[in-house]
Amino acid sequence: MNLDLQDHWFLGGVEIPGRLVLAPMAGVSVQAFRRQGRRHGAGLVCSEMVSVAGIQHRNERTLGYLRVASDEHPLAIQIFGSDPGAMAEAARMVEAAGADIVDINFGCPVRKVTKTGAGASLLDDPDHAARIVEAVATASALPVSVKMRRGTANGSRDCLVVGPRLVEAGAASLTLHPRSAKQMYTGTADHSLTAELVARVDVPVIASGDITSRARAQAVLATTGATAVMVGRAAQGNPWALAQILGSSEEPTREEVVAELLLFMRETVRELGEYRATGFLKKFYAWYLGRGRFPKPFKQELVVLPTIEEVETRLLAAAPGAAEVLERLEAQLPPVDEVLLDSLPISAYGGG
Ligand SMILES: Cc1cc2nc3c(=O)[nH]c(=O)nc-3n(C[C@H](O)[C@H](O)[C@H](O)COP(=O)(O)O)c2cc1C
Repeated sequence: MNLDLQDHWFLGGVEIPGRLVLAPMAGVSVQAFRRQGRRHGAGLVCSEMVSVAGIQHRNERTLGYLRVASDEHPLAIQIFGSDPGAMAEAARMVEAAGADIVDINFGCPVRKVTKTGAGASLLDDPDHAARIVEAVATASALPVSVKMRRGTANGSRDCLVVGPRLVEAGAASLTLHPRSAKQMYTGTADHSLTAELVARVDVPVIASGDITSRARAQAVLATTGATAVMVGRAAQGNPWALAQILGSSEEPTREEVVAELLLFMRETVRELGEYRATGFLKKFYAWYLGRGRFPKPFKQELVVLPTIEEVETRLLAAAPGAAEVLERLEAQLPPVDEVLLDSLPISAYGGG
């Protein structure tokens, strides 16, 4: 029997309007991505991982990642670090920023993060991981969720031991990406571990990894007992994947693809500033225009154009009808604060 993916559920006291969660992705999950994800059907969206060291040092760029728009809710802001006191202080800032949930990253496999004792390396030290969760849960009134990998080593089952400890320490939800840190993004996510984790905890579990279709989402929910599924790479430049997983059979037209991309570009320029946005957006051109939607030479042409304005002009020439669709999309958006940031906290190759 298929579950209704639009069922509401609760994470702590926060009502989540649907079983699809948009994954946190470093170098991807900017506000524009999250707002777009909510519009296309995600019940919950999450910021990319934000450094607690950056928050502690009041790094202007890092603090910029704590900005919340009115149409993002419910929103989790994810923090990473290793010092319980600094994590607690960061959680208070996340709460003050207006997020609904504070999420802790125990999944990032990147050496730059794990060598500081943060991210997935905490799966090797359950006592310390539990101290962090306890400090965060005590510091903030927000529900605390934790996102983790199966363990650091290939074949590890550590998440089954660490997960229940984190729930005891105060985690109101767990997200499992059942690959090892060593695997990075290779191989497949082993959701039999998700099922085992669900059996061991009495909080909602979110299944992350390789959810790319409605059939896969339904199968993972049915076979694991997870409360929700998380969609990451499948939604990069493809918000329509969310609606399709929810049951839509529609493919976007060329005009719709270009209009969503143009809106994403404009919002990203507002958020990151033109200079940063120019480089940041390049990978999105291929993501949006790929999947057979536009010929390869066209994507290659956009990537080498020096300014975003030129990219806009070229896109509108390729799909003139997109201007009208864009106008409609913009008219539906609530106004947001002007935000200008000039960098990202971590490289595009981050993770969990
Ligand atoms: C580019 C990229 C950046 C990521 N950054 C984060 C992150 O900041 N925090 C996190 O918990 N997971 C991060 N992840 C992991 C995803 O949230 C997700 O668990 C993983 O990609 C598996 O899901 P998928 O198969 O749907 O992509 C990242 C993944 C990718 C591809």
